[in-house]
Amino acid sequence: MSTQKKILITGGAGFIGSHVVRLFINKYPNYQIYNLDVLTYAGNLENLKDIENAPNYHFIKADIVDEKAMLDLFAEHKFDSVIHLAAESHVDRSIEDPLAFVRTNVIGTVNLLNAFRDTWKGNFEGKLFYHISTDEVYGTLGATGLFEETTSYDPNSPYSASKASSDHFVRAYGETYGMPYVVTNCSNNYGQNQFPEKLIPLFIHNIKNNKPLPVYGDGKYTRDWLYVVDHARAIDTVFHDGKNGETYNIGGFNEWQNIELIRVLIKQMDEKLGRPEGESEKLITYVTDRPGHDRRYAIDANKIKNELGWEPSVTFEQGLSITIDWYLANEEWLNNVTSGDYQKYYDGMYAER
Ligand code: NAD
Ligand code: DAU
Repeated sequence: MSTQKKILITGGAGFIGSHVVRLFINKYPNYQIYNLDVLTYAGNLENLKDIENAPNYHFIKADIVDEKAMLDLFAEHKFDSVIHLAAESHVDRSIEDPLAFVRTNVIGTVNLLNAFRDTWKGNFEGKLFYHISTDEVYGTLGATGLFEETTSYDPNSPYSASKASSDHFVRAYGETYGMPYVVTNCSNNYGQNQFPEKLIPLFIHNIKNNKPLPVYGDGKYTRDWLYVVDHARAIDTVFHDGKNGETYNIGGFNEWQNIELIRVLIKQMDEKLGRPEGESEKLITYVTDRPGHDRRYAIDANKIKNELGWEPSVTFEQGLSITIDWYLANEEWLNNVTSGDYQKYYDGMYAER
């Protein structure tokens, strides 16, 4: 039986956060899990319907940018660990409104660090601040090479600059106040419950509805894709076995050029929708590129594999098939999140292209 813990998970109503909350609720009945989320457009309590009545689950609606609210919450609950996922997460939105990213990703993170520091006042035995970050902080790669934990930070978008800043604050609080921490930098996730502004769920939605597939630039940008449940498993591993003050890169050993990935997606979708093979390729539409678009991301995930024994559990084809099936079976979820404000965002974002 695992020991008791009181864990604050921020951003637990979002895409990755909801998978992390579910894994911890089901696997560790002795842990009290507090999901703190302000429920932006990307946060959705529907994502957690299956576990919302679990006795070890608690939801707190709050904004990490609210300094006093964070201090009060920590004073009341004395969380002994934090797994921090709450963030503004979409690169295109960061280009439109960088300050929103500074507020949540930088100021919000520092508010949590301060509240954690002030709660434990140097008595950090058995405590942990776990910060979830991204491979985008490393900037872009050429045709060869991989991001390693020692790769210099070189962020190119307001989103990645805000995440890089938050990573630096976490390390600085470790050095300055002796706070125990770990940071993980993960590659692109895909899977159930991802908001359909991101490539894979957006294209699933558009293929299904015979809408254009807006491919940025020449489509030859490369990403390293990881199934979200495997990211949640990696977070579980690092939370329990990661070493204080360390960074671990997490990736899928799974690089794809966007256009090649889109072709695989179309193949699986056409098959599942009963369309002739390749029929949806006609939807591919090249559009104006994203400014500052990073050419290639690829992760060397050998440190977490060799030191902590984690590796992905599903192949890309399997993960993609599970993901498509989920979106096809959960039309209501998709319709709910794509109505209203999202439609305005979509029309505005893609009209400019
Ligand atoms: P998401 O956008 O789906 O979810 C973010 C969640 O944070 C939402 O539930 C939202 O309501 C909440 N939130 C936002 N601002 C908040 C605030 N001020 N106070 C409280 N809650 C707030 O994001 P995601 O894709 O699940 O990403 C989660 C984390 O993982 C982020 O830190 C992101 O940088 C990181 N990450 C994401 C990926 C990816 O591919 N999606 C890859 C690597 C790292
Ligand atoms: O690498 C990790 C990062 O992955 C995370 O930190 C971010 O939170 C997450 O959003 C993701 O960032 P990307 O910018 O790589 O993901 P996105 O799904 O927006 O885009 C993936 C690729 O597809 C990228 O090269 C841009 C391209 N793209 C995206 C969209 C939305 C298109 O060609 N057309 C599109 O409409």
